[in-house]
Amino acid sequence: MIVLANDGISDAGKVLLKDNGFIVVTDKVAQEDLIDYINENNVTALLVRSATKVREDIIDNCNSLRLIGRGGVGMDNIDVEYARSKGLHVVNTPASSSQSVAELVMGHMFAIARFLPDSFKNMEEGDFSVLKKKYAKGIELRGKTIGIIGFGRIGQALATYALGIGMTVKAFGRKQEKVTLNLNINENIYPVDVNVSNDLSEVLNQSDFISLHVPKQENNKPVISKGEFEMMKDGAILINAARGGVINERDLLEALSSGKIAYAGLDVFENEPNPNKLLLQNHKIACSPHIGAATIEAQDRIGEELASLIIEKLK
Ligand code: 3PG
Repeated sequence: MIVLANDGISDAGKVLLKDNGFIVVTDKVAQEDLIDYINENNVTALLVRSATKVREDIIDNCNSLRLIGRGGVGMDNIDVEYARSKGLHVVNTPASSSQSVAELVMGHMFAIARFLPDSFKNMEEGDFSVLKKKYAKGIELRGKTIGIIGFGRIGQALATYALGIGMTVKAFGRKQEKVTLNLNINENIYPVDVNVSNDLSEVLNQSDFISLHVPKQENNKPVISKGEFEMMKDGAILINAARGGVINERDLLEALSSGKIAYAGLDVFENEPNPNKLLLQNHKIACSPHIGAATIEAQDRIGEELASLIIEKLK
C-alpha cells in the first residue's frame, strides 16, 4: 500500500510504516495535481499537515484512497465529515504537539516582554545606546496573570509552564469545571487545581497576557473581535498560536493602534501562506510562520502516532 505524505513525515514515522510493509512517498505534489497523482499511483493513504487541503473533490475522485491522516491537531483543511460519510478513515494526532505549542507561546511572551523581536531586527544597524534606552522598560512574567482561552490539551500544557514561572492562570472553557494539572518538577509531581470559567469577559478583563487555544470556529467567526478587545485590560498582550481567523485581524490592528492592547504575538494568520502585510510590518506584532508544532520532538511523536494509526486501520 502506498502512503503519500504530502507535507512530509518524520523519519521515525516513515521507518515504522516501511517496517510494516507500506511504501512511503514524500514527494510534494502540487494541490492541483493531487487527484491525478493519487489515481495514477494508486495511493491508499494521504497524509497532510496544514498546507495540503483535502476537500470533497479529492474525496470524490480518488477511489484508491482509504485513509486521510493529519499529522497534527487542526483538521480545518480536511472535509472530515464528508470523508467519513464516504467510508474513509480520517485520523489526526491531537496529543503529540501540545508541549511544542505551549513552549512557542512562552517564547513569544518572554520575547515580547523584553522587546526582543524589535531588538533582533535593529541591533545590526541601530545605535547601541539608543536601543538600550528604547528597550529599558521591559516587564517580568512572574506575578502576571495569563488568560488561557480554550483549556484543552494545549491550553493545559501552557498553564503548566506559566504556573512553573509564577504566573497566575485564568482559564476559559465552554463548561465551568475544575481541572487538576500535574506539574512535574525535578521528577516530583505537584498537583495544582485550575478553575475553568465559562465567562469570557471575566477572564479577558483580568489578564495581562492572553493566549488562544481554540480550533477554527465552525462558521469561521472570530473568537476575539472588537467587543472582546474592549473587555481586555488596557495594555494587554495577546498571543495567537491556534488558528488564523480566531482573532479578527482588522480589529487587532485597531486595538494596537489605539493602544488598547500593547503588543501581539502571532504564529497563525487568516490568509496563510500570504498573511496580511499590515500585520507583518506592524512593530507591535511579533510574527512567526505557523511553527507551533515544528519541533523535532513533536514531529517524531506525530510521525509515530500517525504511523501506528495507519497500521491499525489499514493492515
Ligand atoms: C496543528 O494544527 O497541528 C498545528 O497548527 C500545526 O500545523 P502544521 O502541521 O501545519 O505545522
